[in-house]
Amino acid sequence: MRRTRAPEPATLVIFGVTGDLSRRKLLPAIFGLWQDGLLGSAFNIVGVGRQEMTDEEFKDYAVKALQESKETDTIQPGSLEKFRELLFYEFGEFGEDEVYDLVGKELDRAEEAHGGRKNALFYLSTPPSLFEPISNGLGRLGLADQSEGWRRLVIEKPFGRDLDSARRLNAAIHDTWDESQVYRIDHYLGKETVQNLMAIRFGNAIFEPLWNRGYVDHVQITAAEDLGLEGRAGYYEEAGIVRDMLQNHLMQLFALTAMEAPAAFDADAIRDEKTKVLRAVKPIPAGRVGEVAVRGQYGPGSMDGQKVPGYREEPGVDDGSRTSTYVAVKLEIDNWRWQGVPFFLRTGKRLPKKVTEIAVVFKRAPLGIFPGGLERNVLAFRIQPDEGVSLKFSSKSPGQEMVLREVVMDFRYDAFGAQLESPYSRLLLDALIGDATLFPREDEVDHAWQIVSGILEAWDVRPGKGQTPDFPNYAAGTWGPEDAEKLIGPDRRWRRL
Ligand code: BG6
Repeated sequence: MRRTRAPEPATLVIFGVTGDLSRRKLLPAIFGLWQDGLLGSAFNIVGVGRQEMTDEEFKDYAVKALQESKETDTIQPGSLEKFRELLFYEFGEFGEDEVYDLVGKELDRAEEAHGGRKNALFYLSTPPSLFEPISNGLGRLGLADQSEGWRRLVIEKPFGRDLDSARRLNAAIHDTWDESQVYRIDHYLGKETVQNLMAIRFGNAIFEPLWNRGYVDHVQITAAEDLGLEGRAGYYEEAGIVRDMLQNHLMQLFALTAMEAPAAFDADAIRDEKTKVLRAVKPIPAGRVGEVAVRGQYGPGSMDGQKVPGYREEPGVDDGSRTSTYVAVKLEIDNWRWQGVPFFLRTGKRLPKKVTEIAVVFKRAPLGIFPGGLERNVLAFRIQPDEGVSLKFSSKSPGQEMVLREVVMDFRYDAFGAQLESPYSRLLLDALIGDATLFPREDEVDHAWQIVSGILEAWDVRPGKGQTPDFPNYAAGTWGPEDAEKLIGPDRRWRRL
């Protein structure tokens, strides 16, 4: 349905275009959309960076990035040559007006070429410290003004580093932009299978009656990664797993699983419901963090038979680092639907494999009339990889005896025979079209920070604050610290994935 809506002629301005994200994900996503004819002919891209480069050098840079990225679609003959023509480059200091003046001139030029309005999507793919200066700079030069065409601002994560800084950033951005112009990106929401969670919940009648405290025992949300730091020590030492994954990606998966049915599939209806459920999460005071959260940091271990270093041995990491690379947390929701149903969220680096899953674990049948114990039914959404949905239940195993065995009914996404798109291409197109449904709103981000702020306060990496963690406390290639089992136990256990 969305695909029938084409964006209007526009210029995409990417700040921080020479960064990792832009090279590996954004440029391939834009190229894919363009090659599929989804961006129309009146479209161009202005890369902005601090590095001095001519247009020609930038075109070469972008083409090389496309040829090297694993995310680039199959390149059709002649495509790259035509795509080059859409690319322009400006450079300068983000704290000074000159660079925004040059960007303004690019929009004038695009207007002449497009013969229409000066629509522009500004994408901030820079370190977070530059979000505010760039937003202000665009404001100072009048580039947020929508009288000559729409203007939108896409902001990458992390949005703030705690509740206070997120609030300050929101306030600073609102000095220039109306909330309707702001698109905070969380790429998990662009994943096909995350959207499928809504499709399954709200497009079928059979799940909703079971989706509550009457039938659900608990919910487990896992985002495991086998990768370690990938050379991002500078960023990760500052961020840690709570800011990098829990506050944003996992909170979004949580909100979509627990929210009420929205009245419509539109940006405000969906974001209202997500905010409502985030607001209903029982606050975790810093003093109670030890009861509901577990942190970890990986030590040396082995992955796929290869020895890998511990976090503290990674290049650029302090050898006494207190940064967490694993977190598990138990959330409780104070509302009618979920009272008494715990949601367990876990995420970590250097776990045995990459797998993201949401599992709704149902209560046991009330009476066991067969030999052996009763198992719990599980409805599991595999977000990645092997995308799909499965339902686990008990069945009689063939033979003379009445013996029950667990079986799995499985839907696999590849049954559709289509390749799943990159989340960035979905989100970029939505932002160009002006559909904010899959972008977290200001109040959502605020509540997500409120939920994790007690954890950050208790675990803050500043010396002398919080308890000293006993790190490292799990070996690379294992499923995290032992305490995580205690958090979910004793009569529940993490799914073996
Ligand atoms: C990013 C985090 O937002 O998400 C990374 O900064 C993490 O640390 C990545 O590896 C995971 O994304 P995905 O799509 O590979 O699950």
